[in-house]
Amino acid sequence: MRTIWLDQDGCTVQVIDQRLLPHRLETLPLTTVDQFIYAIREMVVRGAPLIGVTGAYGVLAALLTTGDDDLFMQECQRLKAARPTAVNLAWAIDRMLAVVMQAEWGAARIASGRREAAAIAEEEVVRCRRIGEYGARLLADLSRARRGRTVNILTHCNAGWLACVEWGTATAPVYVAHEQGIDLHVWVDETRPLNQGARLTAWELGRAGIKHTVVTDNAGGHLMQHGLVDMVIVGTDRTTYTGDVANKIGTYLKALAAKDNDIPFYVALPSSTFDWQLRDGVRQIPIEDRHADEVRFVQGLYQHARASVLVPPQDSPAANPAFDVTPARLVTGFITERGVCAANEQAILALFPERKE
Ligand code: MRU
Repeated sequence: MRTIWLDQDGCTVQVIDQRLLPHRLETLPLTTVDQFIYAIREMVVRGAPLIGVTGAYGVLAALLTTGDDDLFMQECQRLKAARPTAVNLAWAIDRMLAVVMQAEWGAARIASGRREAAAIAEEEVVRCRRIGEYGARLLADLSRARRGRTVNILTHCNAGWLACVEWGTATAPVYVAHEQGIDLHVWVDETRPLNQGARLTAWELGRAGIKHTVVTDNAGGHLMQHGLVDMVIVGTDRTTYTGDVANKIGTYLKALAAKDNDIPFYVALPSSTFDWQLRDGVRQIPIEDRHADEVRFVQGLYQHARASVLVPPQDSPAANPAFDVTPARLVTGFITERGVCAANEQAILALFPERKE
């Protein structure tokens, strides 16, 4: 199953409604730009590559529902602003615009929009599979070093196929290594406040038959100190060309603990997640502030029905920065569709030489 697809009618996009997982698997149809913006903002869809692909199909929706350049451009700007941190959104929308604006208004432009959105989705699938193949080599090396004993990986948030179209980024190496028969176990950070780890990563790994254990976000350091983690692999929403990594809040603390315990800390990403403009991640990457109620209330299943439970005192204020930045010095390497490289400008640009000024 994929996370997103275009219906036979060529106009309706279906997405898995990730707010309902793991307890219900349902899809939501999207046709208007407002629905696309809602889906991205409210995290019906989430994860950097999937946000990008959804934005691309949002441009198609804008083509189908507007009739002139000005309105179309305004709709694309609104789409771009739906969530600020994942650079894939702006990347995909700009790529769509560069292509569709070359065609005449009408059927030709709509057809080019359909083709380009589909191409972006297909290319993300290929990139993720390649990330899986390169990353699996690292896991195979670890497995050999451990003489076949279980390789323990820790991951944060959900950078699996639900965050992409297929495969995932951080989980792609796990899926490929599992296919190859490597014995693996994944520590899944629950990832408060929205629990993408506990809800989504655990669901994905369970369906794939991969051994995993959900742990609290604060357990990672303890597990590392006791030799229970061989490698950390996470995804990213935006990575500077100098190697600074924005990812789900709490990633930075995992990187610090990994450094202190000499544990390799890898970031898996398709090239669509590199920001080729930004040099200093901590200062320059926009960090999304989300609603405080996501921190105050925990969602779950209670007696077969979805329930929302208030945790802190009714009147206590809460803050909800959704991402943090891990400086390049804490990152062992990047796993990309072109191979593995060190987390510095020189190594990144050696892998993507077309990006050199
Ligand atoms: O707020 P989310 O759920 O969209 O955040 C997702 C993440 O932080 C992922 O780790 C990141 O997008 C990489 S997805 C392959």
